[in-house]
Amino acid sequence: MEISDLMDRHRAVLPPWVPLFYDEPLEIESGSGRMVRGADGRDYLDFYAGVAVNTLGYDVPEIREAVERKMRTGIVHSSTFYLVREQIDLAERIAAASGIDDPVVFFTTSGSDAVETALLLATQYRRSQQVIALRYAYHGRSFGALSVTGDRAWQAQGFTPLRVAYARSGDKRNGGLAGLDDAAYAEACAEDLREIIATGTPERTAAMLVEPVQGVAGAVPLVPGQLRAYADVLEQHDILLIADEVQTGWGRTGRYWGYQWHDVTPDLLVFAKGVGSGFPLGGVVGRREVMTSLPGASVSTFGGNPLACAAALATLDYVDAHDLPAHALTMGRLLRETLDTKLKDPGVGHVRGTGLLMAVEFVDPLSREPDVSRALRVQERCRHRGLLVGLGGAFKNCLRIMPPLTVTAAEVRQAAGIIAAAVDDVPGGEGAPALPTSSLN
Ligand SMILES: Cc1ncc(COP(=O)(O)O)c(C=O)c1O
Repeated sequence: MEISDLMDRHRAVLPPWVPLFYDEPLEIESGSGRMVRGADGRDYLDFYAGVAVNTLGYDVPEIREAVERKMRTGIVHSSTFYLVREQIDLAERIAAASGIDDPVVFFTTSGSDAVETALLLATQYRRSQQVIALRYAYHGRSFGALSVTGDRAWQAQGFTPLRVAYARSGDKRNGGLAGLDDAAYAEACAEDLREIIATGTPERTAAMLVEPVQGVAGAVPLVPGQLRAYADVLEQHDILLIADEVQTGWGRTGRYWGYQWHDVTPDLLVFAKGVGSGFPLGGVVGRREVMTSLPGASVSTFGGNPLACAAALATLDYVDAHDLPAHALTMGRLLRETLDTKLKDPGVGHVRGTGLLMAVEFVDPLSREPDVSRALRVQERCRHRGLLVGLGGAFKNCLRIMPPLTVTAAEVRQAAGIIAAAVDDVPGGEGAPALPTSSLN
C-alpha cells in the first residue's frame, strides 16, 4: 500500500525518463555489509551496489567515523576559494595511484561532470571539437558526455556540441568480426581507427574516450591488445587517450584501474562512482600539460566537497589495507566459474566481464537474438529469491552484476545459486510479458 503510494508520487513529480527497476519498485531502507533491507520488510543480498558506487558495502564504521569527524568541525562546505585539506590529501593520493606522469587532479560531483571536464580539457588543448568514442559507450547525461555516448537508448537529445566518430568496442560479435582471434581483432580495430582518422574526421582530433570495460553496455571488456593497438594509432596523430574509469576504477576489475589490463597509460583518467562510498564525488586526473591548458578560471562549487573527500580517503585506506583489487579478482573468478558451472541454459548467451564488473546475457536459444524480456523476468525472480542485480546491456538483455568489493566467497556462491534458480524459474522463449518502457532505458 505504502510502496504503491510512493510509486504514484514518484511518477507524478519525477520525469518518466528516470527508470525504476521491478514491477513493484523497491525502496531500500537500511543496510549492513552486503545486505540491504527493503521497505517491503525483506532482506536482500545486494549485487548491484547502487550501480557500483558502494565499494565497501553498507554501514562501514571507517566511513561513518571519517564523515562524523569532519561533521563535528561544523564545516560541511567552505568552497574551492579556500584551502580544503581533505581535497589536497585526496588529490595527492589519486595522483600517486594514477600511473600518469606528473599528474594534476580536478574534482567534480559526478561522472558526467568529470567526463565533461576531460572533454573540455582535451578539446581546448588540441584546439579541435572532434572526438572518437566507442560504439555502445555510456559516458553520462550532460551535454558533452551524451554526445560521446554510443548507446541509442541513452542518447536523449540530437544536438551535440562535439563532432564524434565511433570506433569498434570489445564485442567482436557486432560488426561481423566474431571469427577473428584477439590479435587479428585488435589489428582490425586499429585499421578501422586509421580509416576513421584518415577519412571521417577533420585534420586534428582531440581525443579518444574509452571505458576499459564497458559497464552500461553489459560488462564488455576490450579485447586483449585492442587498446594498445588503438594507442599506437593515437600516438601517431598526437590524439589524447582518455580512460573513463567511472565504473572500472578502485579495483573493481581486479586491478586498481581498468586501463592497467592493457599496456597503455592514458593522458586523462576520469573517475567517480566508487571513490566516495556513496558521497557524490568525481574528477579527472591527467598530465599536467593538458590539465593546465585552460586559459580562463573554472571551478565546481561542490566538487571536492570536504565530507565527500573524507569519505573517499577512508574508502581508499580500506581498499589499500584489504587489497580489494586482488580480492575482487579472486571473487570475480569464483563468480564466473560458479555461474559457468550452474548456467547450462541454451538461452544464456554469455557470462562475461572482468573482476566484479560482470553480466549475464540472454538470447533466444535458436536465433541468438537478444532476449530482453527474459533478462527482465530473471531480474524479477532474483529479487523474489532475495538478490538484487541490475539490468542493461547494449541490447538491454543482460543482468548486470557488481557487488561491493568486500563480498565474501559464501555470498558469491549464494548469489550464483540464486541467479541459476531464477534462470530455471523463467523458461526461455515462452510467455514473455510486454515490456514496460522504463526497462528499455
Ligand atoms: C562509464 C561511465 N561514465 C560516466 C558515467 C556518468 O556518471 P554519473 O552518473 O555520475 O554522472 C557513468 C554512469 O553510469 C558511467 O558508467
